[in-house]
Amino acid sequence: MRKKICRQMAVAGLLAAALFVSVAPVLAAGLTPEEQEQLVFIREEEKLARDVYIAMYETWGSLVFSDIKASEQKHMDAVLRLLVKYGIPDPASAQIGVFNDPNLKELYRKLVAQGLTSLLGAMMAGAWIEETDIRDLRAAIDGTTKTDLRRVYGNLEEGSGNHLRAFASHIEALTGARYVAQVLSQEEVDEILGR
Ligand SMILES: [Fe+2]
Repeated sequence: MRKKICRQMAVAGLLAAALFVSVAPVLAAGLTPEEQEQLVFIREEEKLARDVYIAMYETWGSLVFSDIKASEQKHMDAVLRLLVKYGIPDPASAQIGVFNDPNLKELYRKLVAQGLTSLLGAMMAGAWIEETDIRDLRAAIDGTTKTDLRRVYGNLEEGSGNHLRAFASHIEALTGARYVAQVLSQEEVDEILGR
């Protein structure tokens, strides 16, 4: 009797394992290769923002960096939930400043170097990151019809707009001049800044 129960349990275990193995690729296959690539990239791109702001906060102690790095962590978490949902491995390292994507690794190095030169350089690096994120998130939204992806990307874009406004106002306070667009068109930036 006990043997029979054990055998039944083993069969049930095998079935559960087979189900898990067959479900994971099906979920991942719910996204196109382009959508998967985009999601993986954006997870690390949000990490780039967070990691640069961590370094900038340590250097300058400006609260704008600590507030925004906390928001970038939330963005990273939102993208991670999508990666988990679709069974896609997380590319993000637990270590600060470590990236899988070689371009992001190089950008981290450059942006932190720029940010160490002056507080203005650090704020300009922040604004550059946010403009870049907005550009990439808009492309990601255009590149998918999935409502869950579009919703998360839309929220991230809104967050980046807030961050860009914060950095631009600090830059303008430091320079006494209007913020000049670095990545997007001036028209796009002015619209985000409400001008
Ligand atoms: Fe941001």
